[in-house]
Amino acid sequence: MKMDIVLIPGDGIGPDIVREAVKVLDAVMDKSGHTVKYTTCLAGGCAIDETGVPLPPSTLEAAQKSDAVLLGAVGGPKWDTVPGDMRPEKALLGLRGGLGLFCNLRPAILYPQLSAACPLKEEVVAGGLDIMVVRELTGGIYFGERGLSADGQSAYDTMAYSTAEVERIARKAFEIARGRSGRLTSVDKANILETSRLWRKTVECCATAYPDVQLTHLYVDNAAMQLVRAPRQFDVIVTENMFGDILSDEASMITGSIGMLPSASLREDSFGMYEPIHGSAPDIAGKDLANPLATILSAAMMLRHTFKLEEEAKMVETAVSRVLEAGWRTGDIFSEGCSKVGTRQMGTLVAEAVGQE
Ligand code: NAD
Ligand code: IPM
Ligand code: MN
Repeated sequence: MKMDIVLIPGDGIGPDIVREAVKVLDAVMDKSGHTVKYTTCLAGGCAIDETGVPLPPSTLEAAQKSDAVLLGAVGGPKWDTVPGDMRPEKALLGLRGGLGLFCNLRPAILYPQLSAACPLKEEVVAGGLDIMVVRELTGGIYFGERGLSADGQSAYDTMAYSTAEVERIARKAFEIARGRSGRLTSVDKANILETSRLWRKTVECCATAYPDVQLTHLYVDNAAMQLVRAPRQFDVIVTENMFGDILSDEASMITGSIGMLPSASLREDSFGMYEPIHGSAPDIAGKDLANPLATILSAAMMLRHTFKLEEEAKMVETAVSRVLEAGWRTGDIFSEGCSKVGTRQMGTLVAEAVGQE
């Protein structure tokens, strides 16, 4: 198979972590005989600096023509004062919206080797954690109308959802839950928000087609609390755009670090955009300190979801497991008795472990 992949390294640690994921993808190509063509494109702060806009039309076009996109992260203090519509983060929304990527999968898996890096008590996570957060990605407050009054003294952001938007993400979540433990938690704020009441009603309607899935509803504030109180009650969580953003950062920490959580942004066909859930981490950019595993695991998700190469995806995930088993850790997941490595060495170790018997 020949794969056409657009790379969008972005800002901060973005280029460092994408470089390591490419190392690992190349190792997979060597082992499997598939081939890949990379096209590197600008988005985010670096695109503002070079072209004046966060998402150059050529980047969106290249992404549209490709099979899949691997993205690092965008943003940083340098661009924090540019007007809202021109901020680096706007590039992400342009890509997600422009490519129609409504379904964002964020798997929070606690590798048993990382139990010492998990901040929760041992008994709370005994037996492991494997939660799939299904985040709606092209609706809600991120894409609603927003504005600032002429005198700068008031502002608004609008959260809107249609039944069709809720239905398509709910169906994805039910399908995923059906293929796992059969438990689905829908998270909303239906005690306050009209959009959440529509969300809950629509999810309930969808549920009739999935009698094998046990559906429960939680308010988002309670869900945030339950995630640290008793995270093992969750299997699949489905929620709207902003709640999913916040809950997935929280879920990432119970797996040891935000540097461990990959994501896939999908639509109905096989195209996808793959990126770690974390940001550009300006505090550690360029210092060889970033954990590249979230991006490497995002590349594994790309092999699975876009290219249907389950075996190759597992190769990468097994390589990550082995490297952790051997005690190698970046600073964010370090614990006593382990060996500390930098971004580059972590990438090299995983690439070397790919396909080892
Ligand atoms: P962040 O995720 O960049 O960093 C939060 C903390 O986690 C920092 O202490 C950072 O050092 C640490 N961290 C993040 N990724 C890490 C990794 N791979 N290895 C080790 N440590 C890691 O969040 P922030 O500081 O709130 O945001 C920084 C910038 O990134 C902002 O401009 C924000 O808008 C942007 N951002 C971009 C994306 C994206 O491109 N997908 C996502 C989130 C935030
Ligand atoms: C993420 C990020 C983005 C989001 C920002 C940078 C637009 O936090 O991918 O989680 O909120 O979706
Ligand atoms: Mn986020």
